[in-house]
Amino acid sequence: MQGTVYHLNKADIRQSKIVNTDISETLAAGEILLSIDKFALTANNITYAATGDIIGYWQFYPAPAPWGIVPVWGFATVIASACDGIKAGERLYGFLPFASHITMRPGKIKPGSFIDAAEHRAKLPPIYNDYLRLAPDTPANTRAEDIQMLFQPLFATSFLLHDFFMGENCFGAKNIILGSASSKTAMGLARLFARYASPDRTVIGLTSTGNKAFVKGLGDYDQTLGYDEISALPTDTPSLYIDMSGNAQVKRALHTHLGDAMVYSCAVGISHWDQFEEPGDMPGAKPAFFFAPDHALRRRQDWGGQVLQQKIGTELIDWAKEGMSWLEVRPTHGMENAAQIFADIRDGKANPQIGHVISLDA
Ligand SMILES: NC(=O)c1ccc[n+]([C@@H]2O[C@H](COP(=O)([O-])OP(=O)(O)OC[C@H]3O[C@@H](n4cnc5c(N)ncnc54)[C@H](OP(=O)(O)O)[C@@H]3O)[C@@H](O)[C@H]2O)c1
Repeated sequence: MQGTVYHLNKADIRQSKIVNTDISETLAAGEILLSIDKFALTANNITYAATGDIIGYWQFYPAPAPWGIVPVWGFATVIASACDGIKAGERLYGFLPFASHITMRPGKIKPGSFIDAAEHRAKLPPIYNDYLRLAPDTPANTRAEDIQMLFQPLFATSFLLHDFFMGENCFGAKNIILGSASSKTAMGLARLFARYASPDRTVIGLTSTGNKAFVKGLGDYDQTLGYDEISALPTDTPSLYIDMSGNAQVKRALHTHLGDAMVYSCAVGISHWDQFEEPGDMPGAKPAFFFAPDHALRRRQDWGGQVLQQKIGTELIDWAKEGMSWLEVRPTHGMENAAQIFADIRDGKANPQIGHVISLDA
């Protein structure tokens, strides 16, 4: 059987190639072969590539040097199984490679989930090794599946960020500034701050000029500012900056303007990979990286994984019901077109209203 996979040069994510592969249907005992039905692409996948070596994202789906395979979130169907307890035809949701097929070795098999127990994944954050099994009688709901792929991994981070900052009373900040306010991760966080609003806090969305009207229209930010309006922020109000995409110029401008009023500075992602640099010395609090899987691990210990997933799921469903009318899901077919979408997001050409959902014809 023929398959296809997207390879990125780990040292330069501008370079890529599409590789056609022979997919072996001969499985070792305990393995399953999956055909990847569809997956989402967002700026978060660019961070996976940009931090592939530092955080370890290249290790999930090894490829011959200098190439790496970017992980994505999506749905897949089991097309062959040599594993007791998992049958061909079953569908699942989780972390997958940017490819048409994948072989896994299920472990900890439960009615609703399993993990990929492949040896090379054992030391990677557990949140990425969990797969959700879809019951065979689950009615097809394309919109729900699209929202799950596009938002669930990002909203999990929004939820964990909100949980972390509420636990810390926002480090005393009154102004909560969300950078890349048009990103799904920031929008989810803004929605949670709006849902659990306090008169003590003002949530400010900071975005590029072109996305300002869109961010304002969401209605979840108390104020919306363009990156060229940083000087309008008050310097006498304790402020927290949550930087979604690592634009070093914006970060420096904010720290310089706010000075000691910057009581906490949080780095969440570096999808602005080409504008990322080590912050060095800047006025105000020293930036600290927020790695969602670490905080998730803490909450899994406190609440258990299932309760954590339920809490995240309930909040996301509420958001989807209350207000995602702005979302335009755009399906893309085939590897060549998928590679182009990835390049557009990498180059900062993506429209935040569009949710890209990819399906590959091997
Ligand atoms: N640390 C973690 O565990 C974790 C988990 C989830 C997500 N994240 C991070 O959160 C960030 C947002 O991800 P997402 O998937 O939510 O994004 P998304 O929905 O695809 O958002 C796209 C928006 O992000 C900004 N942006 C990001 N990269 C850009 C680039 N290279 N050039 C220009 N604009 C860019 C732009 O917003 P503006 O115009 O508003 O700036 C753009 O409209 C990513 O950096 C991601 O890695 C981190």
